[in-house]
Amino acid sequence: MKITVVGYGNIGAAVTKQLAKAGHDVIVSGRDLDKARAVAEEHGAKVLPLSETGTQSEAYVLAVYFEAVKDVLASIGDVSGKILIDPTNPLTADFMGLTVGHSTSAAEEIAKLAPGAKVVKAFNTLFAQVIDAGADFGGTPAAGFVAGDDADAKVAVAGVLESLGYAPIDAGGLVNARYLEPVAGLNIYLGYGAGLGTQIAPTWIKR
Ligand SMILES: NC(=O)c1ccc[n+]([C@@H]2O[C@H](COP(=O)([O-])OP(=O)(O)OC[C@H]3O[C@@H](n4cnc5c(N)ncnc54)[C@H](OP(=O)(O)O)[C@@H]3O)[C@@H](O)[C@H]2O)c1
Repeated sequence: MKITVVGYGNIGAAVTKQLAKAGHDVIVSGRDLDKARAVAEEHGAKVLPLSETGTQSEAYVLAVYFEAVKDVLASIGDVSGKILIDPTNPLTADFMGLTVGHSTSAAEEIAKLAPGAKVVKAFNTLFAQVIDAGADFGGTPAAGFVAGDDADAKVAVAGVLESLGYAPIDAGGLVNARYLEPVAGLNIYLGYGAGLGTQIAPTWIKR
C-alpha cells in the first residue's frame, strides 16, 4: 500500500521501519522535513512535504500527538477518500490518564476534523518498542485491533497489520475507539506504572 507516515518520533519511526520492511511504499512526512528525511533514509522510505503527499498516498498514519492532528490535517489539505490510521492516545501530561473518553474518543474527534476521510483506529495499544521489535511474541502474534466505520478501509488496515505479523482483531465501529484508547491507558500503566516494561501487548483469547 502507498502509505504516508506523518511524524518521525517513537511511533513514526517504528511504523516506518516495519512498513518498509514488509514492502509497502512508504513516505515519511511531518512539520520538519530534515527529521522526516533522517527516519526515511534509515528505513529506505521516501520523504515529502505534507502538502505534496495527497496524490501519492492511499493512507496516512497519524503518528503525532492527538492535539497536533488538527495542524497536520490543515497542512495535508483534502483527505477525502483517504484512510487515516489513528494510533493516537489522548493522554494527560503524566501519561496516566485520558483527556477524552466515555462519550467520545480521539478517533471520533479526528473523524470530525476530516469529514470524508475513513478513520481507522489501529496501533494505539502497541508500544512503539513493540512495533519496533516486531509482532511476534515467541510464536504468538500480538493483536492488531482495528476499529472504524468504513468496512473496506478496516479490511485494508487489517491487511496492513497482518503484513506486519499482527493478528488483526475487528473491534467494531469507530465508536469502539472509546474502548481501545482506555486499553492503551491500561497498557501504559502496566508497562510504566506497574513496571512490566514496554515489551508487553494486550490480546484477546477465545476458547
Ligand atoms: N510511544 C508509544 O509507545 C505509543 C504507543 C501507542 C500510541 N502512541 C501515540 O502515538 C502518537 C505519537 O507518539 P510518539 O511516542 O511517537 O511521540 P514522539 O516520539 O514524541 O513524536 C511526536 C511526533 O509528533 C510530532 N508533532 C508534535 N507536535 C506537532 C505539531 N503541532 N504538528 C505536527 N507534528 C507535531 C513531532 O514532530 P516534531 O519532532 O517536529 O515536534 C513528532 O514527529 C501519540 O499520539 C501517542 O499517544 C504512542
